[in-house]
Amino acid sequence: MFIDGFKVESPNVNYTENEIHSVYDYQTTELVHENKNGAFQWTVKPKTVKYEFKTDTHLPKLGVMLVGWGGNNGSTLTAGIIANREGISWATKEKVQQANYFGSLTQASSIRVGSFNGEEIYAPFKSLLPMVNPEEIVFGGWDISDMNLADAMGRAKVLDIDLQKQLRPFMEHLVPLPGIFDPDFIAANQGSRANHVIKGTKKQQLEQVINDIREFKERSKVEKVVVLWTANTERYSDVVVGLNDTTENLMSSLEKDEAEISPSTLYAIACVLENVPFINGSPQNTFVPGLIELAIERNCLIGGDDFKSGQTKMKSVLVDFLVGAGIKPTSIVSYNHLGNNDGMNLSAPQTFRSKEISKSNVVDDMVASNGILYEPGEHPDHVVVIKYVPYVGDSKRAMDEYTSEIFMGGTNTIVMHNTCEDSLLAAPIILDLVLLAELTTRIKFKSENEGKFHSFHPVATLLSYLSKAPLVPPGTPVVNALSKQRAMLENVLRACVGLAPENNMILEYK
Ligand code: NAI
Repeated sequence: MFIDGFKVESPNVNYTENEIHSVYDYQTTELVHENKNGAFQWTVKPKTVKYEFKTDTHLPKLGVMLVGWGGNNGSTLTAGIIANREGISWATKEKVQQANYFGSLTQASSIRVGSFNGEEIYAPFKSLLPMVNPEEIVFGGWDISDMNLADAMGRAKVLDIDLQKQLRPFMEHLVPLPGIFDPDFIAANQGSRANHVIKGTKKQQLEQVINDIREFKERSKVEKVVVLWTANTERYSDVVVGLNDTTENLMSSLEKDEAEISPSTLYAIACVLENVPFINGSPQNTFVPGLIELAIERNCLIGGDDFKSGQTKMKSVLVDFLVGAGIKPTSIVSYNHLGNNDGMNLSAPQTFRSKEISKSNVVDDMVASNGILYEPGEHPDHVVVIKYVPYVGDSKRAMDEYTSEIFMGGTNTIVMHNTCEDSLLAAPIILDLVLLAELTTRIKFKSENEGKFHSFHPVATLLSYLSKAPLVPPGTPVVNALSKQRAMLENVLRACVGLAPENNMILEYK
Protein backbone atom coordinates (compact mmCIF):
# COMPACT_ATOMS: atom_id res chain seq x y z
CA MET A 1 0.00 0.00 0.00
CA PHE A 2 1.17 3.52 -0.73
CA ILE A 3 0.57 6.49 1.58
CA ASP A 4 1.26 10.18 0.90
CA GLY A 5 3.26 10.92 4.04
CA PHE A 6 3.58 10.39 7.77
CA LYS A 7 4.70 11.97 11.01
CA VAL A 8 6.84 10.21 13.57
CA GLU A 9 5.55 10.10 17.14
CA SER A 10 8.31 9.21 19.57
CA PRO A 11 9.85 10.54 22.78
CA ASN A 12 13.03 10.86 20.69
CA VAL A 13 11.57 13.20 18.11
CA ASN A 14 10.28 16.69 18.50
CA TYR A 15 8.67 18.63 15.66
CA THR A 16 8.71 22.38 16.40
CA GLU A 17 7.63 25.24 14.19
CA ASN A 18 11.09 25.62 12.66
CA GLU A 19 12.86 22.32 13.09
CA ILE A 20 12.75 18.59 13.61
CA HIS A 21 14.93 17.47 16.49
CA SER A 22 15.76 13.79 16.87
CA VAL A 23 17.81 11.77 19.30
CA TYR A 24 19.21 8.70 17.65
CA ASP A 25 21.02 5.54 18.74
CA TYR A 26 23.63 4.72 16.11
CA GLN A 27 24.42 1.02 16.28
CA THR A 28 27.92 0.41 15.03
CA THR A 29 30.95 -1.73 15.79
CA GLU A 30 34.42 -1.25 17.13
CA LEU A 31 37.15 -3.48 15.73
CA VAL A 32 40.18 -4.62 17.63
CA HIS A 33 42.98 -6.75 16.20
CA GLU A 34 45.70 -8.34 18.18
CA ASN A 35 48.76 -10.32 17.22
CA LYS A 36 48.40 -13.65 19.06
CA ASN A 37 51.35 -15.97 18.56
CA GLY A 38 52.10 -14.56 15.13
CA ALA A 39 48.48 -14.62 13.90
CA PHE A 40 46.08 -11.68 13.84
CA GLN A 41 42.91 -12.15 15.79
CA TRP A 42 40.01 -9.81 15.16
CA THR A 43 37.37 -8.94 17.72
CA VAL A 44 34.18 -7.08 16.85
CA LYS A 45 32.52 -5.18 19.65
CA PRO A 46 29.02 -3.82 19.04
CA LYS A 47 28.65 -0.28 20.27
CA THR A 48 25.94 2.33 20.41
CA VAL A 49 26.64 6.02 20.00
CA LYS A 50 23.97 8.60 20.73
CA TYR A 51 23.49 11.27 18.08
CA GLU A 52 21.23 14.28 17.86
CA PHE A 53 19.98 15.70 14.57
CA LYS A 54 18.36 19.08 13.96
CA THR A 55 16.73 19.74 10.59
CA ASP A 56 15.69 23.26 9.74
CA THR A 57 12.22 22.89 8.18
CA HIS A 58 12.08 26.32 6.57
CA LEU A 59 12.16 25.74 2.82
CA PRO A 60 14.14 28.51 1.16
CA LYS A 61 13.33 30.00 -2.21
CA LEU A 62 16.01 28.16 -4.18
CA GLY A 63 17.97 29.31 -7.18
CA VAL A 64 19.93 26.82 -9.25
CA MET A 65 22.65 27.99 -11.61
CA LEU A 66 23.84 25.45 -14.14
CA VAL A 67 27.23 25.75 -15.79
CA GLY A 68 26.45 24.55 -19.33
CA TRP A 69 22.79 25.56 -19.01
CA GLY A 70 22.26 25.50 -22.78
CA GLY A 71 23.56 21.94 -23.19
CA ASN A 72 21.49 18.79 -23.58
CA ASN A 73 21.20 18.17 -19.84
CA GLY A 74 20.64 21.80 -18.89
CA SER A 75 17.93 22.42 -21.48
CA THR A 76 16.24 19.05 -20.86
CA LEU A 77 16.08 19.58 -17.10
CA THR A 78 14.72 23.13 -17.47
CA ALA A 79 12.14 21.97 -20.02
CA GLY A 80 11.12 19.00 -17.90
CA ILE A 81 10.49 21.06 -14.80
CA ILE A 82 8.53 23.71 -16.69
CA ALA A 83 6.44 20.95 -18.31
CA ASN A 84 5.65 19.53 -14.86
CA ARG A 85 4.94 22.96 -13.41
CA GLU A 86 2.59 23.88 -16.25
CA GLY A 87 0.94 20.43 -16.30
CA ILE A 88 1.79 20.04 -19.98
CA SER A 89 0.80 16.91 -21.88
CA TRP A 90 1.74 16.15 -25.48
CA ALA A 91 0.91 13.74 -28.23
CA THR A 92 3.40 11.03 -29.09
CA LYS A 93 2.73 8.40 -31.75
CA GLU A 94 1.68 6.04 -28.95
CA LYS A 95 -0.44 8.13 -26.58
CA VAL A 96 -0.92 11.43 -24.82
CA GLN A 97 2.04 11.72 -22.48
CA GLN A 98 1.94 13.62 -19.18
CA ALA A 99 5.00 15.33 -17.74
CA ASN A 100 6.53 13.33 -14.88
CA TYR A 101 9.64 12.97 -12.75
CA PHE A 102 10.51 9.36 -13.52
CA GLY A 103 14.16 8.69 -12.74
CA SER A 104 14.29 11.10 -9.82
CA LEU A 105 15.06 9.48 -6.47
CA THR A 106 13.48 12.33 -4.53
CA GLN A 107 10.39 12.81 -6.72
CA ALA A 108 9.57 9.36 -8.05
CA SER A 109 10.88 6.75 -5.60
CA SER A 110 9.48 5.47 -2.33
CA ILE A 111 10.62 4.22 1.04
CA ARG A 112 9.16 1.50 3.26
CA VAL A 113 7.69 2.87 6.47
CA GLY A 114 6.51 -0.42 8.02
CA SER A 115 3.85 -3.10 7.90
CA PHE A 116 0.16 -2.73 8.62
CA ASN A 117 -2.33 -5.61 8.70
CA GLY A 118 0.08 -7.87 6.88
CA GLU A 119 0.85 -5.37 4.16
CA GLU A 120 4.01 -3.41 3.48
CA ILE A 121 3.41 0.36 3.62
CA TYR A 122 5.40 2.71 1.40
CA ALA A 123 5.57 6.50 1.22
CA PRO A 124 7.27 8.93 -1.19
CA PHE A 125 11.00 9.34 -0.61
CA LYS A 126 10.43 13.09 -0.43
CA SER A 127 8.03 12.67 2.50
CA LEU A 128 10.97 11.76 4.77
CA LEU A 129 12.06 15.37 5.30
CA PRO A 130 10.86 18.72 3.94
CA MET A 131 12.46 19.27 0.53
CA VAL A 132 12.20 22.16 -1.91
CA ASN A 133 9.50 21.74 -4.55
CA PRO A 134 11.29 21.50 -7.94
CA GLU A 135 8.64 23.66 -9.54
CA GLU A 136 9.55 26.56 -7.27
CA ILE A 137 13.23 26.54 -8.24
CA VAL A 138 14.44 29.56 -10.21
CA PHE A 139 16.90 28.38 -12.89
CA GLY A 140 19.78 30.35 -14.32
CA GLY A 141 23.37 29.77 -15.33
CA TRP A 142 26.15 30.15 -17.83
CA ASP A 143 27.01 28.81 -21.26
CA ILE A 144 29.75 29.55 -23.75
CA SER A 145 27.06 29.41 -26.45
CA ASP A 146 24.58 32.31 -26.48
CA MET A 147 21.59 30.27 -27.60
CA ASN A 148 18.38 30.80 -25.63
CA LEU A 149 16.95 27.77 -23.86
CA ALA A 150 14.13 27.20 -26.36
CA ASP A 151 16.58 26.97 -29.26
CA ALA A 152 18.99 24.97 -27.09
CA MET A 153 16.19 22.45 -26.45
CA GLY A 154 15.74 22.20 -30.24
CA ARG A 155 19.48 21.78 -30.76
CA ALA A 156 19.56 18.98 -28.18
CA LYS A 157 16.95 16.92 -30.12
CA VAL A 158 15.90 15.14 -26.95
CA LEU A 159 12.24 15.98 -26.33
CA ASP A 160 9.24 15.25 -28.57
CA ILE A 161 8.49 18.02 -31.01
CA ASP A 162 4.91 18.58 -29.82
CA LEU A 163 6.24 19.11 -26.31
CA GLN A 164 8.96 21.46 -27.58
CA LYS A 165 6.37 23.61 -29.35
CA GLN A 166 4.37 24.02 -26.16
CA LEU A 167 7.47 24.80 -24.11
CA ARG A 168 8.99 27.39 -26.43
CA PRO A 169 7.11 30.42 -25.02
CA PHE A 170 8.31 29.53 -21.53
CA MET A 171 11.94 29.17 -22.60
CA GLU A 172 12.68 31.73 -25.32
CA HIS A 173 13.46 34.47 -22.84
CA LEU A 174 15.86 32.30 -20.83
CA VAL A 175 19.39 33.12 -22.02
CA PRO A 176 22.55 31.86 -20.28
CA LEU A 177 25.17 34.28 -19.02
CA PRO A 178 28.52 34.20 -20.85
CA GLY A 179 30.77 31.39 -19.59
CA ILE A 180 34.48 30.95 -18.92
CA PHE A 181 35.99 29.38 -22.02
CA ASP A 182 39.44 27.86 -22.19
CA PRO A 183 40.02 25.82 -25.37
CA ASP A 184 42.92 24.04 -23.72
CA PHE A 185 40.56 22.15 -21.41
CA ILE A 186 37.86 20.84 -23.77
CA ALA A 187 38.00 19.31 -27.24
CA ALA A 188 39.01 21.57 -30.13
CA ASN A 189 35.71 20.64 -31.83
CA GLN A 190 33.85 22.80 -29.27
CA GLY A 191 35.46 26.03 -30.45
CA SER A 192 32.71 26.90 -32.94
CA ARG A 193 30.15 26.85 -30.12
CA ALA A 194 32.03 29.37 -27.99
CA ASN A 195 30.48 32.71 -28.99
CA HIS A 196 29.55 33.89 -25.49
CA VAL A 197 32.57 34.07 -23.23
CA ILE A 198 33.87 35.98 -20.23
CA LYS A 199 36.99 37.89 -21.21
CA GLY A 200 39.99 38.77 -19.06
CA THR A 201 42.45 37.10 -16.76
CA LYS A 202 41.52 34.10 -14.61
CA LYS A 203 41.07 36.40 -11.64
CA GLN A 204 38.78 38.70 -13.61
CA GLN A 205 36.79 35.69 -14.83
CA LEU A 206 36.41 34.49 -11.26
CA GLU A 207 35.25 37.93 -10.14
CA GLN A 208 32.71 38.00 -12.95
CA VAL A 209 31.27 34.65 -11.84
CA ILE A 210 31.04 35.92 -8.25
CA ASN A 211 29.16 38.98 -9.53
CA ASP A 212 26.90 36.79 -11.64
CA ILE A 213 25.93 34.73 -8.59
CA ARG A 214 25.25 37.85 -6.52
CA GLU A 215 23.19 39.49 -9.26
CA PHE A 216 21.21 36.30 -9.91
CA LYS A 217 20.41 36.09 -6.21
CA GLU A 218 19.34 39.70 -6.12
CA ARG A 219 17.32 39.63 -9.35
CA SER A 220 15.47 36.39 -8.72
CA LYS A 221 14.97 37.08 -5.01
CA VAL A 222 16.16 33.63 -3.99
CA GLU A 223 17.45 32.93 -0.49
CA LYS A 224 19.88 30.17 -1.44
CA VAL A 225 21.79 29.23 -4.58
CA VAL A 226 23.24 25.89 -5.65
CA VAL A 227 25.61 25.75 -8.63
CA LEU A 228 26.08 22.58 -10.66
CA TRP A 229 28.54 21.88 -13.48
CA THR A 230 26.86 20.16 -16.42
CA ALA A 231 29.17 21.70 -19.00
CA ASN A 232 31.55 19.81 -21.25
CA THR A 233 33.93 17.29 -19.75
CA GLU A 234 37.33 18.91 -19.33
CA ARG A 235 40.68 17.19 -19.47
CA TYR A 236 42.32 16.56 -16.09
CA SER A 237 44.33 19.48 -14.83
CA ASP A 238 47.81 18.70 -13.57
CA VAL A 239 48.07 18.58 -9.81
CA VAL A 240 51.43 20.12 -9.04
CA VAL A 241 53.12 21.07 -5.80
CA GLY A 242 53.17 24.87 -5.63
CA LEU A 243 50.40 25.25 -8.21
CA ASN A 244 47.14 23.91 -6.78
CA ASP A 245 48.12 21.53 -3.98
CA THR A 246 47.11 23.90 -1.18
CA THR A 247 44.63 26.75 -0.92
CA GLU A 248 47.45 29.24 -0.57
CA ASN A 249 49.18 27.97 -3.71
CA LEU A 250 45.93 27.84 -5.67
CA MET A 251 45.05 31.41 -4.75
CA SER A 252 48.53 32.66 -5.58
CA SER A 253 48.40 30.77 -8.93
CA LEU A 254 45.20 32.64 -9.61
CA GLU A 255 46.98 35.96 -9.01
CA LYS A 256 49.68 34.80 -11.45
CA ASP A 257 47.06 33.82 -14.06
CA GLU A 258 48.46 30.28 -14.22
CA ALA A 259 47.22 28.48 -17.33
CA GLU A 260 46.61 25.19 -15.53
CA ILE A 261 43.61 26.44 -13.49
CA SER A 262 40.62 25.01 -15.36
CA PRO A 263 37.34 26.85 -15.94
CA SER A 264 35.49 24.36 -13.72
CA THR A 265 37.93 25.04 -10.87
CA LEU A 266 37.37 28.78 -11.32
CA TYR A 267 33.57 28.41 -11.02
CA ALA A 268 34.09 26.19 -7.98
CA ILE A 269 36.42 28.68 -6.27
CA ALA A 270 33.86 31.43 -6.90
CA CYS A 271 31.15 29.32 -5.28
CA VAL A 272 33.19 28.37 -2.25
CA LEU A 273 34.16 32.03 -1.71
CA GLU A 274 30.44 32.92 -1.88
CA ASN A 275 29.50 29.94 0.32
CA VAL A 276 27.36 28.51 -2.46
CA PRO A 277 27.27 24.68 -2.77
CA PHE A 278 29.01 23.49 -5.95
CA ILE A 279 28.41 20.09 -7.55
CA ASN A 280 30.50 18.69 -10.37
CA GLY A 281 28.48 16.54 -12.78
CA SER A 282 31.39 15.75 -15.09
CA PRO A 283 34.41 13.51 -14.55
CA GLN A 284 37.30 15.97 -14.53
CA ASN A 285 39.32 16.76 -11.39
CA THR A 286 37.74 20.16 -10.74
CA PHE A 287 38.33 19.58 -7.05
CA VAL A 288 42.11 19.90 -6.95
CA PRO A 289 43.57 19.56 -3.43
CA GLY A 290 43.80 23.33 -2.91
CA LEU A 291 40.12 23.70 -3.67
CA ILE A 292 39.07 20.87 -1.34
CA GLU A 293 41.12 22.54 1.40
CA LEU A 294 39.36 25.86 0.70
CA ALA A 295 35.92 24.23 0.85
CA ILE A 296 36.78 22.55 4.15
CA GLU A 297 38.17 25.80 5.58
CA ARG A 298 35.02 27.68 4.62
CA ASN A 299 32.65 24.80 5.38
CA CYS A 300 31.09 25.09 1.93
CA LEU A 301 29.45 22.01 0.41
CA ILE A 302 31.15 20.50 -2.62
CA GLY A 303 30.03 17.27 -4.28
CA GLY A 304 30.59 15.09 -7.32
CA ASP A 305 31.99 13.76 -9.54
CA ASP A 306 30.19 12.77 -12.75
CA PHE A 307 26.50 11.88 -12.85
CA LYS A 308 25.87 8.17 -12.32
CA SER A 309 23.21 7.73 -14.96
CA GLY A 310 23.30 4.65 -17.21
CA GLN A 311 26.07 2.15 -17.78
CA THR A 312 27.88 2.86 -14.51
CA LYS A 313 24.66 2.64 -12.53
CA MET A 314 24.02 -0.81 -14.00
CA LYS A 315 27.62 -1.80 -13.28
CA SER A 316 27.38 -0.79 -9.64
CA VAL A 317 24.26 -2.93 -9.33
CA LEU A 318 25.39 -5.94 -11.34
CA VAL A 319 28.88 -6.32 -9.89
CA ASP A 320 27.47 -5.84 -6.39
CA PHE A 321 25.02 -8.65 -7.10
CA LEU A 322 27.67 -10.96 -8.61
CA VAL A 323 30.31 -10.47 -5.91
CA GLY A 324 27.59 -10.55 -3.23
CA ALA A 325 26.41 -13.88 -4.63
CA GLY A 326 29.91 -15.34 -4.43
CA ILE A 327 30.43 -15.16 -8.21
CA LYS A 328 33.74 -13.81 -9.48
CA PRO A 329 33.63 -11.23 -12.30
CA THR A 330 36.92 -11.60 -14.18
CA SER A 331 36.36 -9.36 -17.17
CA ILE A 332 34.14 -6.32 -17.63
CA VAL A 333 34.14 -4.68 -21.05
CA SER A 334 32.00 -1.62 -21.68
CA TYR A 335 31.44 -0.12 -25.12
CA ASN A 336 29.49 3.09 -25.62
CA HIS A 337 28.58 5.08 -28.63
CA LEU A 338 26.71 8.33 -28.64
CA GLY A 339 26.17 11.19 -31.06
CA ASN A 340 25.40 14.25 -28.97
CA ASN A 341 27.71 17.16 -28.23
CA ASP A 342 29.01 15.35 -25.13
CA GLY A 343 30.05 12.46 -27.40
CA MET A 344 31.74 14.86 -29.82
CA ASN A 345 33.67 16.46 -26.96
CA LEU A 346 34.67 13.03 -25.61
CA SER A 347 36.11 12.06 -28.99
CA ALA A 348 39.29 13.95 -28.06
CA PRO A 349 41.75 11.70 -26.19
CA GLN A 350 42.31 14.09 -23.25
CA THR A 351 38.61 14.50 -22.39
CA PHE A 352 37.94 10.79 -23.00
CA ARG A 353 40.69 10.05 -20.48
CA SER A 354 38.75 11.93 -17.76
CA LYS A 355 35.70 9.77 -18.47
CA GLU A 356 37.77 6.61 -18.58
CA ILE A 357 39.23 7.31 -15.14
CA SER A 358 35.84 8.13 -13.67
CA LYS A 359 34.28 4.95 -15.06
CA SER A 360 37.12 2.62 -14.13
CA ASN A 361 37.18 2.65 -10.31
CA VAL A 362 33.52 1.87 -9.93
CA VAL A 363 33.89 -1.80 -8.97
CA ASP A 364 36.85 -1.41 -6.59
CA ASP A 365 34.89 -1.47 -3.33
CA MET A 366 32.93 -4.57 -4.38
CA VAL A 367 36.07 -6.44 -5.45
CA ALA A 368 37.86 -5.48 -2.21
CA SER A 369 34.90 -6.76 -0.19
CA ASN A 370 35.43 -10.41 -1.08
CA GLY A 371 38.81 -11.99 -0.30
CA ILE A 372 37.40 -15.45 -1.03
CA LEU A 373 37.08 -14.58 -4.70
CA TYR A 374 40.01 -12.21 -5.16
CA GLU A 375 43.62 -12.38 -3.97
CA PRO A 376 44.94 -9.11 -2.48
CA GLY A 377 45.59 -6.72 -5.37
CA GLU A 378 43.74 -8.89 -7.90
CA HIS A 379 41.21 -7.09 -10.07
CA PRO A 380 38.97 -8.04 -12.97
CA ASP A 381 40.08 -6.84 -16.41
CA HIS A 382 38.04 -3.68 -16.94
CA VAL A 383 37.98 -1.78 -20.23
CA VAL A 384 35.88 1.20 -21.26
CA VAL A 385 35.48 2.32 -24.89
CA ILE A 386 33.55 5.42 -26.02
CA LYS A 387 32.96 6.28 -29.68
CA TYR A 388 31.26 9.26 -31.28
CA VAL A 389 28.56 8.25 -33.78
CA PRO A 390 26.61 11.39 -34.77
CA TYR A 391 23.60 9.53 -36.17
CA VAL A 392 22.45 8.16 -32.80
CA GLY A 393 22.34 11.68 -31.26
CA ASP A 394 21.45 11.72 -27.58
CA SER A 395 20.22 8.13 -27.76
CA LYS A 396 23.27 6.53 -26.26
CA ARG A 397 24.08 2.87 -26.74
CA ALA A 398 25.94 1.06 -24.01
CA MET A 399 27.01 -2.55 -24.50
CA ASP A 400 28.56 -4.44 -21.64
CA GLU A 401 30.01 -7.88 -21.36
CA TYR A 402 30.54 -9.35 -17.90
CA THR A 403 32.44 -12.62 -17.73
CA SER A 404 32.57 -14.39 -14.39
CA GLU A 405 33.97 -17.56 -12.91
CA ILE A 406 31.25 -19.68 -11.35
CA PHE A 407 31.06 -23.04 -9.52
CA MET A 408 33.76 -25.59 -10.32
CA GLY A 409 35.60 -23.63 -12.96
CA GLY A 410 32.52 -22.76 -15.01
CA THR A 411 32.21 -19.49 -16.92
CA ASN A 412 29.19 -17.25 -17.06
CA THR A 413 28.89 -14.40 -19.56
CA ILE A 414 26.23 -11.73 -19.27
CA VAL A 415 25.80 -9.28 -22.14
CA MET A 416 23.74 -6.16 -21.75
CA HIS A 417 22.55 -3.63 -24.31
CA ASN A 418 21.26 -0.36 -22.97
CA THR A 419 19.68 2.22 -25.30
CA CYS A 420 18.45 5.47 -23.86
CA GLU A 421 18.29 9.22 -24.32
CA ASP A 422 21.24 10.13 -22.14
CA SER A 423 19.85 13.47 -21.03
CA LEU A 424 16.57 11.94 -19.90
CA LEU A 425 18.59 9.85 -17.46
CA ALA A 426 20.82 12.72 -16.34
CA ALA A 427 18.21 15.48 -15.88
CA PRO A 428 16.37 13.88 -12.90
CA ILE A 429 19.76 13.13 -11.32
CA ILE A 430 20.69 16.81 -11.56
CA LEU A 431 17.43 17.66 -9.85
CA ASP A 432 18.12 15.18 -7.03
CA LEU A 433 21.65 16.49 -6.60
CA VAL A 434 20.54 20.09 -6.10
CA LEU A 435 17.59 19.20 -3.87
CA LEU A 436 19.66 16.90 -1.67
CA ALA A 437 22.57 19.34 -1.53
CA GLU A 438 20.15 22.04 -0.38
CA LEU A 439 18.55 19.70 2.17
CA THR A 440 21.87 18.60 3.67
CA THR A 441 22.81 22.23 4.33
CA ARG A 442 19.74 22.44 6.62
CA ILE A 443 20.78 19.47 8.79
CA LYS A 444 23.02 19.83 11.82
CA PHE A 445 24.07 17.03 14.12
CA LYS A 446 26.38 16.02 16.94
CA SER A 447 27.42 12.81 18.60
CA GLU A 448 27.40 12.27 22.36
CA ASN A 449 31.13 13.05 22.31
CA GLU A 450 30.71 16.45 20.71
CA GLY A 451 29.66 19.62 22.46
CA LYS A 452 28.29 21.57 19.51
CA PHE A 453 26.01 20.84 16.58
CA HIS A 454 27.77 20.99 13.22
CA SER A 455 26.91 20.41 9.60
CA PHE A 456 27.94 17.39 7.52
CA HIS A 457 31.50 17.37 6.25
CA PRO A 458 31.63 19.86 3.36
CA VAL A 459 32.67 17.08 0.98
CA ALA A 460 29.17 15.71 0.53
CA THR A 461 29.35 11.89 0.58
CA LEU A 462 25.57 11.75 0.95
CA LEU A 463 25.38 12.52 -2.77
CA SER A 464 27.33 9.36 -3.67
CA TYR A 465 24.25 7.56 -5.01
CA LEU A 466 24.12 10.10 -7.82
CA SER A 467 27.85 10.21 -8.60
CA LYS A 468 29.95 7.93 -10.77
CA ALA A 469 33.17 8.67 -8.87
CA PRO A 470 32.03 9.85 -5.43
CA LEU A 471 34.16 12.57 -3.93
CA VAL A 472 34.85 11.79 -0.28
CA PRO A 473 36.79 13.56 2.46
CA PRO A 474 40.41 12.45 2.80
CA GLY A 475 40.60 9.10 4.62
CA THR A 476 36.94 8.15 4.04
CA PRO A 477 36.00 4.88 2.30
CA VAL A 478 34.50 5.26 -1.19
CA VAL A 479 31.28 3.32 -1.64
CA ASN A 480 30.18 2.60 -5.20
CA ALA A 481 27.67 -0.23 -4.71
CA LEU A 482 24.34 1.38 -5.55
CA SER A 483 22.22 -0.37 -2.92
CA LYS A 484 24.65 0.68 -0.17
CA GLN A 485 24.69 4.26 -1.42
CA ARG A 486 20.91 4.41 -1.41
CA ALA A 487 20.71 2.82 2.04
CA MET A 488 23.23 5.34 3.39
CA LEU A 489 21.22 8.29 2.15
CA GLU A 490 17.84 6.92 3.15
CA ASN A 491 19.02 5.82 6.58
CA VAL A 492 20.66 9.17 7.37
CA LEU A 493 17.43 10.95 6.43
CA ARG A 494 15.47 8.44 8.53
CA ALA A 495 17.76 9.21 11.47
CA CYS A 496 16.79 12.86 11.18
CA VAL A 497 13.20 11.89 12.03
CA GLY A 498 14.26 9.30 14.63
CA LEU A 499 13.53 6.22 12.53
CA ALA A 500 15.77 3.17 12.73
CA PRO A 501 17.66 2.21 9.57
CA GLU A 502 15.70 0.06 7.15
CA ASN A 503 16.98 -3.42 8.04
CA ASN A 504 14.54 -5.55 6.03
CA MET A 505 14.38 -8.11 8.86
CA ILE A 506 10.55 -8.15 9.08
CA LEU A 507 10.86 -10.04 12.38
CA GLU A 508 7.19 -9.36 13.10
CA TYR A 509 6.36 -12.14 10.65
CA LYS A 510 9.04 -14.66 11.47
P1 NAI B 1 26.40 19.19 -23.83
O1 NAI B 1 27.64 19.26 -24.61
O2 NAI B 1 25.11 19.09 -24.57
O3 NAI B 1 26.29 20.45 -22.86
C1 NAI B 1 27.38 21.07 -22.29
C2 NAI B 1 27.18 22.58 -22.40
O4 NAI B 1 28.24 23.20 -21.71
C3 NAI B 1 27.23 23.10 -23.83
O5 NAI B 1 26.08 23.85 -24.09
C4 NAI B 1 28.51 23.96 -23.87
O6 NAI B 1 28.35 25.05 -24.72
C5 NAI B 1 28.63 24.36 -22.41
N1 NAI B 1 29.97 24.69 -21.92
C6 NAI B 1 31.16 24.09 -22.19
N2 NAI B 1 32.14 24.62 -21.47
C7 NAI B 1 31.58 25.59 -20.71
C8 NAI B 1 32.10 26.48 -19.73
N3 NAI B 1 33.39 26.47 -19.41
N4 NAI B 1 31.24 27.32 -19.13
C9 NAI B 1 29.92 27.33 -19.45
N5 NAI B 1 29.38 26.50 -20.36
C10 NAI B 1 30.20 25.63 -20.99
O7 NAI B 1 26.58 17.95 -22.84
P2 NAI B 1 25.49 17.20 -21.95
O8 NAI B 1 25.04 16.00 -22.69
O9 NAI B 1 24.50 18.16 -21.45
O10 NAI B 1 26.43 16.68 -20.77
C11 NAI B 1 27.00 17.62 -19.89
C12 NAI B 1 28.07 16.99 -19.03
O11 NAI B 1 27.50 16.01 -18.20
C13 NAI B 1 29.18 16.31 -19.83
O12 NAI B 1 30.42 16.61 -19.26
C14 NAI B 1 28.89 14.87 -19.64
O13 NAI B 1 30.04 14.06 -19.71
C15 NAI B 1 28.30 14.87 -18.24
N6 NAI B 1 27.51 13.68 -17.99
C16 NAI B 1 26.38 13.41 -18.70
C17 NAI B 1 25.66 12.27 -18.47
C18 NAI B 1 24.40 11.95 -19.19
O14 NAI B 1 23.83 10.91 -18.99
N7 NAI B 1 23.89 12.82 -20.00
C19 NAI B 1 26.11 11.29 -17.47
C20 NAI B 1 27.32 11.67 -16.78
C21 NAI B 1 27.96 12.84 -17.03
